[in-house]
Amino acid sequence: MTKDYVLRELQEHPDRFVSGAFLADRLQITRAAVWKAVEQLRREGYPIESVPRRGHRLSAGYDVLSEAGIRRYLSRSDLQIRVYSTITSTNTVLKQMALEDAPSGLALVAGEQTAGRGRLGRSFYSPSGSGLYLSLLLRPDLSAAEATSLTACAAVSTAEALESLSDVKAGIKWVNDILIDGKKVCGILTEAGLDCETGRMSYVIIGIGVNTKVPSGDFPEELREIAGSAFGEKTIPDLRNRLAALILEKLMKYSADPSDSAVFEEYRRRSLAPGKHIRILSPGREPVPAEALDLERDYSLLVRREDGSTELLRSGEISIRF
Ligand code: BTN
Repeated sequence: MTKDYVLRELQEHPDRFVSGAFLADRLQITRAAVWKAVEQLRREGYPIESVPRRGHRLSAGYDVLSEAGIRRYLSRSDLQIRVYSTITSTNTVLKQMALEDAPSGLALVAGEQTAGRGRLGRSFYSPSGSGLYLSLLLRPDLSAAEATSLTACAAVSTAEALESLSDVKAGIKWVNDILIDGKKVCGILTEAGLDCETGRMSYVIIGIGVNTKVPSGDFPEELREIAGSAFGEKTIPDLRNRLAALILEKLMKYSADPSDSAVFEEYRRRSLAPGKHIRILSPGREPVPAEALDLERDYSLLVRREDGSTELLRSGEISIRF
């Protein structure tokens, strides 16, 4: 489509004016066609300024999610991608699709969720314009016990993707939160269906929510202490398309062999808990102080309580005292 070519040209020169005559000549189209394409892109949300005799300028802060935009940074073609400007919850919608036989490799990507879900029945704050919310459907031949390693694949994929886009250090707070500078910038919710006859997974949905920027008007009061944004005020062109592509690319690669020790080693290297004083959190109970000792090969966390007893936490939630 003409507009995609015009966009590509403007993306090659972010924050600089590109003349209508140059674009028309380069793309072998009329200047009226260039103008129409620019108008269309603006309607889609691209911040393009047009000035007579200078041309069109795409602000370097452009960040419009689209399937074509994600595919531009993706090298594999075995993913089906559907992009929504707003959705209830990518996990909820994808689960319905999974039950209706959607194929492995289907990814739903959204710029806003009106009913985003977190772990332990909580909601996940998913405002428009400052986050990336995506879910990937997989149908791996794994038992329920093996499937937990897929969450680790998601955490490693996301941490690596965040670091490759900017100069940040992404750590993993057991079991699956990504923290930057002590603040949670990403949460992961993995949900699965079990085939009771075989004891294998019939589907797994890996949902990842990243706070890319500070939401307009800041995070709600109750989240301000714990939540942060991965990139703050940094200007990274096409941020969410690039991030989505990087996460999906890595997640497809790692999930093909989730028990790979390289994924475990990377998860362990990024793990923030071992060696720290933590609190074991259980809904409706007092937090239990303990020391995190080490991460086991099955991703359970070895902890020592204050009475000296040790315990392996297989799932749940902790807070870390930094
Ligand atoms: C958590 O931190 O408790 C997990 C949050 C997971 C949020 C993601 S956003 C994409 C996907 N859709 C949802 O409704 N939840 C997950």
